[in-house]
Amino acid sequence: MKKKKIAIVVGVRPHFVKLAAIYPYLVKEHQVKIIHTGQHFDNEMSKVFFDQLSIPDPDFRLNMGSGIHTEQVGRGILDIGYVLNDCRPDCVIVFGDANSSLAGAVAAAKLGLSIAHIEAGARNHDMKLPEEVNRLIIDSVSTFFFCPTEAAGISLGHRGVTQNLFVTGDLLLDSVKKNIETARRKSNILEELGLRSKDYYVLTIHRADNTIEPFAINLIIDTLLETGENVVFPVHPRTRKFLQQTGLEQKILSSSRFILTSPVSYFDILALIENSKLVISDSNGIQREAYFLRRPCVILRDSTEFPETVISGGALMCNLQKDQFQRSLRAENFLSAVFDETRFGDGNSAIKISSILREKL
Ligand code: UD1
Repeated sequence: MKKKKIAIVVGVRPHFVKLAAIYPYLVKEHQVKIIHTGQHFDNEMSKVFFDQLSIPDPDFRLNMGSGIHTEQVGRGILDIGYVLNDCRPDCVIVFGDANSSLAGAVAAAKLGLSIAHIEAGARNHDMKLPEEVNRLIIDSVSTFFFCPTEAAGISLGHRGVTQNLFVTGDLLLDSVKKNIETARRKSNILEELGLRSKDYYVLTIHRADNTIEPFAINLIIDTLLETGENVVFPVHPRTRKFLQQTGLEQKILSSSRFILTSPVSYFDILALIENSKLVISDSNGIQREAYFLRRPCVILRDSTEFPETVISGGALMCNLQKDQFQRSLRAENFLSAVFDETRFGDGNSAIKISSILREKL
């Protein structure tokens, strides 16, 4: 049988992790082309993931870069469109909810190509967030819907999706299961940073709404300084710029409790999370990784696409009021947590998705 052509659009850090999880299965049966939009372009945000997770070099490298969202998405649609029009794949895979995913889905839809959305159906019902807008549009033009959780499947059902909807589980769980042993063996990040297991918090902040004005980060930093805990803070480039512009970087650097680092590799973030006392993050990827590694997590948001982590007591949402944030850090909040990863599948989502695509394409 002639191999089908699949194009996979990736652009941001979490896409590379998901790509690594599914690529080996897809490439066994299909002709696979990787399109890297260039949304994340720094080595630490992109190349290190390709190297560490043995992902082949992208077949197409575009230059979507940064800019206001309309510009980013517009440029993405245009450039991905040219590539897809030339190679006319049987299916275009997009992951999650980033601007790269939206651009890939819209370009494919306008060319009449089949679209497989991995992480379909995740919602937080807040249309102020760019990712929610992206998710809605992507799901409205997709052909195949691969849902990470039952709840995501149900939310799509409510929106009238009845065909080609599959609850296959979360590729991030596949990836954590596959890589955690290697991360334990290979990562030296604790030694490098002079940390002891269960003696520090991990903090990550990257969302636009937390980096528009200094109130939120200032509050987070002040509160964490008062706790006297060690805090490891791998900083996203957007957040780094913001900390520098607002003078907050200096404040953090003057504390011996805070360790500010560049974005860390995949193995290092797994090791940091697994050995942490508590994870504090506005990323839904980190939130899930903490859950899979059985670490408590304070979510720096007031809504989440993955309520499973909260319902089970493993994570707590926190809108940024000082007293609420202080309270959310207490260890007793998480004493009855049940880290039930099976809510996100069995770690074999990649196999399931690729066998469905084999059957359907
Ligand atoms: C994007 C996704 C978000 C995802 C996140 C993963 C959208 C709307 N958001 O957010 O859903 O959770 O990726 O990390 O697509 N920058 C650099 N170097 C890089 C990458 C970014 O300097 O390698 C800077 C950009 O110049 C920009 C800022 O960081 O000013 C934000 O980057 P952008 O790609 O727009 O969005 P993210 O915040 O990374």
